[in-house]
Amino acid sequence: MKILAIDTSCDETSVAITQGQKVISNVLFSQIKIHAPFGGVFPSLAKREHLTKIKPAVSLALKRAGLIINKIEAIAVTFGPGLPPALEVGVNFAKALSQKYQRPLIPVDHLEGHIYSGITLNQMGKPKRQFRFPLLALIVSGGHTQLVLMNNHINYKVVGQTLDDACGEALDKAGRLMGLGYPGGPIIERLAKSGNINQYSLPIPMLQHQSLDFSFSGLKTAFKRLIYSLDEKQKLEAIPDLCASFQQAVFTSLLIKLEKAIKQFQPKLIVVGGGVSANKELRKQLRTLLAKKIPVYFPPLKKLTGDNAAMIGVVAYFKYQKGIYLTHSETLDRLPRTNLDNYIN
Ligand code: KG4
Ligand code: ZN
Repeated sequence: MKILAIDTSCDETSVAITQGQKVISNVLFSQIKIHAPFGGVFPSLAKREHLTKIKPAVSLALKRAGLIINKIEAIAVTFGPGLPPALEVGVNFAKALSQKYQRPLIPVDHLEGHIYSGITLNQMGKPKRQFRFPLLALIVSGGHTQLVLMNNHINYKVVGQTLDDACGEALDKAGRLMGLGYPGGPIIERLAKSGNINQYSLPIPMLQHQSLDFSFSGLKTAFKRLIYSLDEKQKLEAIPDLCASFQQAVFTSLLIKLEKAIKQFQPKLIVVGGGVSANKELRKQLRTLLAKKIPVYFPPLKKLTGDNAAMIGVVAYFKYQKGIYLTHSETLDRLPRTNLDNYIN
């Protein structure tokens, strides 16, 4: 079954063609350069860009897959969570396609996508990957930080989440405080390599807290205080150490909560997704923590760590098999604040 999937939840216009877990094409038009001067995503600009890019993205995804639209059997689209004006573009376009070509419409939650990005396969069906349940997913993106328990496909229980900033957002804010540019996450990763994680002691968020929730705002405040205590010259010299210390405080908090959740739920598989899962140091520390006791899946390509429509198409395949789709697409609306707990199957 060939699915055309669309994601316009934030600052990437992405359209993919998928077949089962296989990605046939995955077009991604990034808006990072447009938003960078604002130090974050500017919603009305995002909408304008999605509007101009969505049609070319659909055409290119079909062209790269060597298909014409009549060969597509279903349309999938991210309906939330995300920026309302951005989501709207993808949802409206997907509805129009579904109506025009009389194809079922499969609504997908963006965070389901980040979880399923771990089992996206290439056209040859590699790498061989399948979910094993119970499964614990760690979503680490710019908008979300969540621990999700799954006992079956398309079945989610959010067991931990951030009470304030997402971990990617915390890294981006730290990047901005150091004047490093946007997005901060990958820049901090690069600079942290030559830094000392023990140079500055920063509070590890939620260390003593019994719950599986995260919080990064206290860490951010402590970091801000530290930065303001340094003069310009000291700050410049300290950048690698500042990056290493801050990044480590964020990662330690993720690792501690994941370890706690593993003890509680005894998962057979860990899946990590979202933009921050591109970070090699985080991957290394997670692998060390799990020490071959529990397998861990990361998105197999860097392009699949951040926002993309291929992951949406893969979720859609599993949803369709469970009969979760709309034949009257006009009933679909964007849900910018939707939560994975809303759909228990
Ligand atoms: O999943 P994503 O592309 O968008 C959202 O759904 O939010 O995640 C974007 C986030 C940004 O905060 C960015 O700084 C972070 O992912 N990020 C990274 C890395 N690459 C992207 N954080 C740490 N290390 C990286 N290599
Ligand atoms: Zn995302």
